This record gives sequence, structure tokens and C-alpha cells, in this order.
Amino acid sequence: MEPRTPEGGADRPRSAMAEQTGRVIVIGPYLRMRRGDPDAQPDSHAIRNSQARLEEAVGLARAIDLTVVDAILTPVSQIRPATFLGKGKVEEIVGLVSGNAIELVVMDCALSPIQQRNLEKAWNTKVLDRTGLILEIFGRRARTKEGALQVELAHLNYQRSRLVRSWTHLERQRGGFGFMGGPGETQIEADRRLIGDRIARLENELKKVQATRRLHRAGRQRVPYRVVALVGYTNAGKSTLFNRLTRAEVQAADMLFATLDPTLRALSLPHGGKAMLSDTVGFISNLPTQLVAAFRATLEEVMEADIILHVRDISHEDADAQSRDVDTVLRQLGIDPDAGQRILEVWNKIDLFTPEARENLQNIAARRPPERPCFLLSAATGEGIDALLAAIEQRLAATKMTLDLSIDASDGAGISWLHRNSEVLAKELHDGRFAMTVRVDETKRDIVVKRFEAVPHAV
Ligand code: GTP
Repeated sequence: MEPRTPEGGADRPRSAMAEQTGRVIVIGPYLRMRRGDPDAQPDSHAIRNSQARLEEAVGLARAIDLTVVDAILTPVSQIRPATFLGKGKVEEIVGLVSGNAIELVVMDCALSPIQQRNLEKAWNTKVLDRTGLILEIFGRRARTKEGALQVELAHLNYQRSRLVRSWTHLERQRGGFGFMGGPGETQIEADRRLIGDRIARLENELKKVQATRRLHRAGRQRVPYRVVALVGYTNAGKSTLFNRLTRAEVQAADMLFATLDPTLRALSLPHGGKAMLSDTVGFISNLPTQLVAAFRATLEEVMEADIILHVRDISHEDADAQSRDVDTVLRQLGIDPDAGQRILEVWNKIDLFTPEARENLQNIAARRPPERPCFLLSAATGEGIDALLAAIEQRLAATKMTLDLSIDASDGAGISWLHRNSEVLAKELHDGRFAMTVRVDETKRDIVVKRFEAVPHAV
């Protein structure tokens, strides 16, 4: 993965995490649905077939450099309050853990603190549930100070809810804010206090960072750049696309954004217009709600974006389920994925397809309703990027006006103002005057009309 931060600031190198890698077993204890159960309302995570879910969980564990030694599907028909799994299963796993020098067991489900504690005791190893694992991933991937603070806050709140007595079975390990830092029994009270203090301090710090960000945003709004936001399932290729789309930018153009946020960069459109491209965290199925809440502020950029690019790894066998998961998160953020023409789907990684499969994909794409367009491309090779950029430009232009005007060729100041403040679509010299066709957004329209006596473009 290419680094997202030009300065390398917020990106933490993976190698720095080396000491936190470990040998792990991933267990997928998926509930067998009981027929006729009126309360059974499986979410999309539950609907996926178990094997795909287990593979996803393995992928998540690998994403934080854990060494997955084994992955086991365990159908569960009844959740045990004490251990989640049945007695026999728990015992079976004891052997696996000790025989393979396992340091961590990932349970791809939501465990209560008691269940987690009992399993840790039974297996004499650390146990992480799905929320814990996702918090780890988000913690490692947070690219902005605000993001890092939010994840840490969500993590501490999660840990606080997990502080129960009887952690004696685990030795105390200080130092990280992850599963390696689970509290030991004698520390419970002290930890409760420490966590409380830390939460209060983080909340304060977060308020300050957010206030600064609001100032920056207000500043940006005065420079009327439109915002294009990237969303997508984790590993869909957002950062590759982000880098691809902004690679051509000269450093100077980036500077405007570089000071604001490493996940924002200038995006040059084909006719010289500019927009801001904003990258976000990758979405994951069953994103814990506390995390969606934690990221609400960071995701404001998405909520307010003029265009949302939904990047999909179309080569992934689970691509449809992933897409539904992204839609779910968008809905949680108050964005209706079906409304309006704000969302453009990017079907990424087409370089992995054979010519026949590609043709098939193109046919599917062509049959989509016009209000849900999609763009087949490869962020890795650059194929298809131009069509996407043209579509972005066209969308952004929809609320803009195209005007015709005539300006004296010697009016250098006026011409350069137009270049700075509008997209110059055409410029022809006739008898010492430039006939220009320019595209401006609403905020600039009146100025251009008054100052240059511009008229609506004659088609
Ligand atoms: P998160 O940070 O987890 O949200 O991931 P992301 O969506 O930013 O994905 P990223 O850009 O890191 O890409 C994930 C993997 O897919 C990397 O190994 C990329 O090299 C690969 N990848 C991205 N785009 C393409 C593509 O067009 N073709 C191929 N073959 N691989 C790609």
C-alpha cells in the first residue's frame, strides 16, 4: 500500500508494530438460525455464508500483521452465557492453543466481558472479539490526529466496559492500547481511574482538534472547492485510487491541503477545474456502532461531499455483500445510497479480469440504471481513470453555469482572474479580443456577469 501522507506524518510504518504480532487462531462461531424464530433479524454479516465470514475475519487479523495459524468454523446453536461456546468446543481449543503456541484467539462474534474472561482463563491466552479486533485495525490505520484520538477513545470506552474482576489468569502487560494491554486483576481499580482520566483528557484534546478542523473547514469553504469523497470496503483500493488521482499534483498545489489534513488533496479536473479529494477509513461489515459514532466527525467530510466515490473491489468474490455493508454505513451516516446522483460507483481492479470476464462485467455495468452509474477501472494501472475524471467534472458542472464573454487581450489582470476563478473551456483571439467560454459555480456567477458582461453560453 502506498503511503497516504506525503509527509509521512500520521502514517505509522507497519514494522513498528512488529512487537505486537502474534500467532493466532481465528474462530468463527456462527449462530445456526432457528427456523421460525420471530426475533431472528440477521444483519448482512450474519447472512453471509459462514466460510466467507471466516475468511473476512482472517483477512482482518492479517491486516494487523497477526500470523493466522488456523481458522475454525464453529456452528453454534445456543450461546452459553459463561463461555459463548459449548464445553466440548472450549476444551477442543485448549489443545489447539497449547499445541501451536498460540498467543491470541480471535472470536469473530461479540463477547461479553465475562465470556471473554472465562475463555481467556480456559485457554490461558488472550482473546479478542470482533469489536476488539476492529478497534485494533482502526487504531493502526488512523491517519489523522483526530482519527487516532477517536479510535483511542472508542477503545478506552470499550475497555472500560470490559473491566471485570478476575483477570488474574493474565499477566499484566503495559504499553499498548490494544489486546496486548489487557488489565490484570490487581490493577482493576487503578485502571478504572486511569482510564477515566485518560478518557477525560482525550475528550478535551479531541475538542481542541475538532475546533481547529472547523476553522480550517470554514477557511476552505471560502475557497469554494467542491469535495469528492472516497468511501469503500477495506482493501477496495481507496488509497491506491487516491494516490493515482492526485499523483500529478505539483507539491505547491498540495500545500493548500497539506496543512489541513493528510487525507485531503487537490484533484485536477480535465478542464483545469479543481476539487478536493478526501479519503476515509475503510468500512468493514458489522462495524461496531460505537465506532461509527466515533467517526461521525471524521466522516462529516463524506456527509457534505458533492460527490461520493464508492470504490469497490469488483474482483472480490464477496463484492456484493461488501457493497451492501458500505451502503449500511452510509445510511448510518444519514446518506441515502439510493437517492440522487451523488454516488458514483467505481468498480476497481478490472486488471485482474480476463477479456471475456471483463466484457461480461461491462455488459452488467451497461444495464445499470443511469442514476446509479459505475466506472470500470484499475487504480493500479490507471486504466479507466480518464472516464471517471470526466464524469466527476460533469457532475460538478451540473450546478455550475457556462458563460460566454469577450475580453480585451491586453487585460492581463482580468484574464488571469478568470483563469484562477473559473474553468476556461474555450478561448479564441479575434481582433485583439479573447472570446471565452468559462464555467463558474454559483458563488462567482454574478461577479463574472457584472465584471465581464458575460452572457449564458450559446449552445
Ligand atoms: P484500507 O486502507 O484497508 O481501507 O484499504 P484501501 O481501500 O485504501 O485499499 P488499498 O488502496 O490499500 O489497496 C488494497 C490492495 O489492493 C493493495 O494491495 C493494492 O495494491 C491493491 N489494489 C488497489 N487497486 C488495485 C487495482 O486496480 N488492481 C489490482 N490488481 N490491485 C489493486
